[in-house]
Amino acid sequence: MIDVSSLYLLKNESFAELAKLSSLSDLDQFELYWMGRKGKLTTLLRSVSELSIEDKKTIGKFINDYKVEFTALILQKKTLLKNVSLEQKLSQEIFDTTLPGTIFPRGHQHPLSQVIAELVRIFHSFGFVVADGPEMESEFYNFEALNIPPNHPARDMQDTFYIEQTGKQPSLPSLGHLTSHEDPSLLRTHTSPVQVRIMQKYPPPISIIVPGRVYRHEAMDATHSCMFHQVEGLLVDKNVSFADLKGTLTRFAQLFFEKDVKTRFRPSYFPFTEPSAEMDISCLICSGTGCRVCKQTGWVELLGSGMVNPKVFEEVRLDPDQYSGFAFGIGIERLAIFKYGVDDLRLFCENDLRFLKQF
Ligand code: PHE
Repeated sequence: MIDVSSLYLLKNESFAELAKLSSLSDLDQFELYWMGRKGKLTTLLRSVSELSIEDKKTIGKFINDYKVEFTALILQKKTLLKNVSLEQKLSQEIFDTTLPGTIFPRGHQHPLSQVIAELVRIFHSFGFVVADGPEMESEFYNFEALNIPPNHPARDMQDTFYIEQTGKQPSLPSLGHLTSHEDPSLLRTHTSPVQVRIMQKYPPPISIIVPGRVYRHEAMDATHSCMFHQVEGLLVDKNVSFADLKGTLTRFAQLFFEKDVKTRFRPSYFPFTEPSAEMDISCLICSGTGCRVCKQTGWVELLGSGMVNPKVFEEVRLDPDQYSGFAFGIGIERLAIFKYGVDDLRLFCENDLRFLKQF
């Protein structure tokens, strides 16, 4: 039988005991003793449900109020004791402000990322925006739509990594409805498929650059890799001419290499551009007088380019009589090699800090 006067006594006793505590560990024990799962007050609280309705109003209320007050006091005490122990600790510790600090080594971007960032910055200033596309591509986007017919050598098994057809293709959620054109069957061998994807989706004027990874079935050596980076460029509008292509790419080379580099355009062939040209720059090592790097020619090849082939325009339902455009593809590793004088492509993917720290 619980009565109010013995409850009073109990309450006073517990409050007095609490006031006397002087360490956090004692407080923990105290809390457990009173408020733990089998604690004294917890047991009391449990017994409230067995009281008569009358008693619930008086004794029950007393116990509940007691608990609320008690909990608050314990918390207050805890904060107090914590502060005391912190102050004690601080007054005992000696802080030596003359000790050297811990120096955290600061990392930086990978040289290839730096090249991409610089390239994006330059083309951004020309009004180009960045676009991207999937690395797993369909034959349609990687070849067909770019006017690369089925028997073209670029499709050779030696160049292209084909993806095993399991019947269940990974879906490309961002591309919406999957058609057979969308079914990825290979790793893209260049960034040019993104040209087609963008032209399908957006009306001209278009001016984009597309940095990204590409894959080719090649043995690794100092100048070849099965995975490397390209940046694709595409500009489509009315009255775009070959002079625009030359001007844009020449200015890019000068800004990128921070030198008054000269450029020359040699006729070339790409199925998706007509006419096509390869752009050379005057050798950065010898400035064009002839050295080992440029094989005494004074020129090094930098990129592939050309005017968008009308066949590609037709594929994306743009009228070639109304629109024209130019496109280019630059090897990012190649840019980095020229800019930093690196002579082995493999260094870029070995993650050797001795190499990376130099940039
Ligand atoms: N896609 C070509 C390649 O990988 C480069 C290129 C892009 C050429 C755009 C012309 C225009 O070799």
